[in-house]
Amino acid sequence: MTVINEITITDAAVDQMSGTPNPRFKQIMAALVRHLHEFTREVDLTPEEWLGAIRFLTAVGQKCTQHRQEFILLSDTLGLSSLVNALHDKRGSESATKSSLLGPFYRQDAPMMKLGDSIISKSPGTEVVFYGQVTDGEGKGIPNALVQVWEPDETGNYDLQKHDPSVMDLRGCFRADAEGRYYFRGLCPTGYMIPMDGPVGDMIRAQKRHGYRPAHIHFVIGAPGYRELVTALYVAGDDHIDSDTVFGVSDSLIISVNKNDSHSPLPKLPSIKYDFRLAQLRGKAMTGRVGADPAQLTQSAH
Ligand code: BEZ
Ligand code: FE
Repeated sequence: MTVINEITITDAAVDQMSGTPNPRFKQIMAALVRHLHEFTREVDLTPEEWLGAIRFLTAVGQKCTQHRQEFILLSDTLGLSSLVNALHDKRGSESATKSSLLGPFYRQDAPMMKLGDSIISKSPGTEVVFYGQVTDGEGKGIPNALVQVWEPDETGNYDLQKHDPSVMDLRGCFRADAEGRYYFRGLCPTGYMIPMDGPVGDMIRAQKRHGYRPAHIHFVIGAPGYRELVTALYVAGDDHIDSDTVFGVSDSLIISVNKNDSHSPLPKLPSIKYDFRLAQLRGKAMTGRVGADPAQLTQSAH
């Protein structure tokens, strides 16, 4: 019989789980217990601090609704979502476009539009044309790739934050042409603060962090035989480009607005050009969606 103390407790807990039939579940739980115990020893966690953490996680759970996922926001603000994205990218091909966060404002059911259409239906602001090509790792165009986009308005709010879910604005789906080329009109991207009215916001304030995301527009791009790409483009020069609260920015995703672009399909408008590279699908289809569509959360809740 082992004496349980602050060291032997770790092996005792891992041993008790050693009969777990699913090998991956067994591996994950053993590593979780080891790291959690090591962390607890490292900070010499007190009962008050342990209870504070339980209260905080309870509040995070209680803030979740059918339309809001405070746990994903917590994962985002701890850098965990970005870490999962980076590991996902590493399992794909080196030359593919980097992933970025899906975030809480994606919707699966955005309207299908024609190339060149505008995603702006209600919000005033500076119109720009977004264009480029969806290619494979060698730079060959992927015909008919599906390009889904969404962005906030000039006040930094998404349609879901302002209207009931039947009103859609600043989002759309486009089918690229036979060479993988796409173009559409939208607003010049704006930055905004992440939802700060819950326990995650309290944590951000307690850490004296600003809570902002730099100006960006989101993309989900897919085509049969390729890994779905979940990413975003970030505007160079934004005050928060180097301090994104959810760690979504990579250098290769930073773009500039071109006010004088003779190659643009709509040369009278300022333009943002970006070519996306998709990795070939190897093995089973794996999603890069570290985030959730609120509508999907609603469905799974029923
Ligand atoms: C977003 O970019 O929409 C987002 C991502 C993570 C947390 C909050 C917002
Ligand atoms: Fe966003």
